[in-house]
Amino acid sequence: MNKYLIAPSIVSADFLELKSAIAACESAGADWLHVDVMDGHFVPNLTMGPFLVETFQRATKLPLDVHLMIEQPERYLEGFAKAGASHLTVHVETCPHLHRTLQHIKSLGCKAGVTLNPGTPVSAIEPVLHLADIVLVMSVNPGFSGQAFLPETVGKVSHLRALLQVLNPAAWIEVDGGISAETLPKMKDAGANVFVAASAVFHHPEGIEAGIKALRDSINQFPPNRTRNI
Ligand code: DX5
Ligand code: ZN
Repeated sequence: MNKYLIAPSIVSADFLELKSAIAACESAGADWLHVDVMDGHFVPNLTMGPFLVETFQRATKLPLDVHLMIEQPERYLEGFAKAGASHLTVHVETCPHLHRTLQHIKSLGCKAGVTLNPGTPVSAIEPVLHLADIVLVMSVNPGFSGQAFLPETVGKVSHLRALLQVLNPAAWIEVDGGISAETLPKMKDAGANVFVAASAVFHHPEGIEAGIKALRDSINQFPPNRTRNI
């Protein structure tokens, strides 16, 4: 498995061409398929439910990374797990019993993810970091693709990486929102290792493969601000 993972967010694909969009992600070397679930309450938009997750799992072997931007996510965990979700990520802002919710996700056989909005401090999830397989840092306010990256979230990733070094070094740090070939290296340098991207993949002017390649190249590029050691 790659050390740095790319997770295209299918929400920005052309849904009339879903099968070929997923195939293009696979052939370009995407690692996970990110599925943005929105309920029109927690976030001001409506998207997908278990029905589409079940459809995606028939189209791909990629792990389905399901991001639940919904109120009372515990009501739907089993449905998404049965539909074929590999990872279930919940927002701390929606989970009064976050510890129990993460345990519940694991009991369903899924990787457990926790996430927080740009306005929520890392301290809100610190007590459950040892339980999380994935910690997702939102780098936009959730609800829509195509928003501008919030640079103040870079410091949050560094803070989190330092905490996880002690509490749970195996956890992935995933970042989501405004990730492009320009912003990705900043998040990588801060300690992120999974990069979600919707617009940068599905709205790339040269197509999905080119979008993924540009992100992969930005992961592999030598940091411009450091001198090379030959
Ligand atoms: C934000 C979603 C993201 C979003 C990313 O509400 O969780 O996954 O679709 O879109 P881009 O990459 O266009 O910012
Ligand atoms: Zn997302």
